[in-house]
Amino acid sequence: MILVTGGCGYIGSHCVISLLNQNKKVAVIDNFVNSDKSVLKKINLISKKNILFYKGDLRQKSFLSDVFNKHNFETVFHFAGLKSLSESYKNPLEYFSANINSTINLLQTMQKYKVYNLIFSSSATVYGQDHPLPWTEDIKLKFPESPYAQSKAFIENLLLKYYQSDMNFKIGILRYFNPIGCHSSGLIGDRIDGSTNLIPSIMLYLLGKKPYLPIYGNDYKTKDGSGIRDYIHVDDLVNGHIGALKYIIEKKGIHIWNLGSGKGYSVFQIVSKFEEHYKKRIFKKVMPRREGDLSEYWADISKAGKELNWSPSLDIDKMILDSLNHLKKLKEANL
Ligand code: NAD
Ligand code: UFG
Repeated sequence: MILVTGGCGYIGSHCVISLLNQNKKVAVIDNFVNSDKSVLKKINLISKKNILFYKGDLRQKSFLSDVFNKHNFETVFHFAGLKSLSESYKNPLEYFSANINSTINLLQTMQKYKVYNLIFSSSATVYGQDHPLPWTEDIKLKFPESPYAQSKAFIENLLLKYYQSDMNFKIGILRYFNPIGCHSSGLIGDRIDGSTNLIPSIMLYLLGKKPYLPIYGNDYKTKDGSGIRDYIHVDDLVNGHIGALKYIIEKKGIHIWNLGSGKGYSVFQIVSKFEEHYKKRIFKKVMPRREGDLSEYWADISKAGKELNWSPSLDIDKMILDSLNHLKKLKEANL
């Protein structure tokens, strides 16, 4: 059985569906801080399969032990955590606690129950700034600025040290660039309410819940002045996890892979793609740069390509069309 922490969240729920499609038995832990129980029904609707679900917080060790006591887990996909760079400046302690304390508890419990396969959701933000593009996994990390990125960099280091102390562990660290898009059913997707991310922000505008789309900075030294990111379809991202698990089981050890598309798109380019596919002009308002935002970065994905035999197959138009399909479903459900 596989344990998925944060399995009701955006990426976790897509991973759960992929695992169920491969006939794996799955248990999920989630505290619903950024999701809700409706996701469980949708997972069932899409996969026609059931999962075991435990509501709780990874920071509660006795809860975690109870769950591990009930099952023979072979692998943990660890998605649970908080993910907004901008929010992490407002609430650094909560970010350090939710991300770091949870992971420490999880590792201690895994060790106690001899569960050794771990796939961890890290982030491209661990690189820090001012590296030559595209970013490769062997770049020496610079101390990142946001508490969010610091928490991920800290966990990566913790995993390296933990592995050196117990080499039974097999660990895959996946540095995600910017996952967008959703399952082709449109039923599940990134939560938009309260989100600070670009795609949810555009969706809120298209739902009429925002008078304008904020563009955080048009004076970066980029081709059109707006920030450039490497967007990857969540289904491609999840396939990378499946490849990473296979790799760590075969090769053992601790490994790091970038998961992105290897291409950079600016905020203005993404917004124009939405305008093109939704056939509506988006009213934009240029705002000051957001604290901690970098101007541009994208991934070198050749390591994942070679070692995991993985490459992304879904392009930016598909990512945006799937997001718009999700928007349609949200409208139909009157959310
Ligand atoms: P998400 O917020 O949609 O999902 C995270 C899930 O974890 C949520 O359902 C939330 O309720 C749960 N959770 C949070 N803290 C918890 C805790 N202490 N105990 C139990 N459950 C908890 O986020 P996501 O986009 O699916 O991201 C998954 C992981 O990937 C996160 O660790 C995030 O930092 C990382 N990541 C995400 C992105 C991105 O752009 N989405 C990019 C890089 C890295
Ligand atoms: N942006 C806007 N307007 C908005 C929202 C975002 O202009 O309303 C801009 C940002 O300034 C940035 C770009 O869109 O230039 C992307 O911003 P997001 O908030 O969508 O994503 P981030 O790159 O800040 O961060 C995301 C996740 C992190 C993850 C990181 C990896 O939130 O968890 O990608 O690259 F670590």
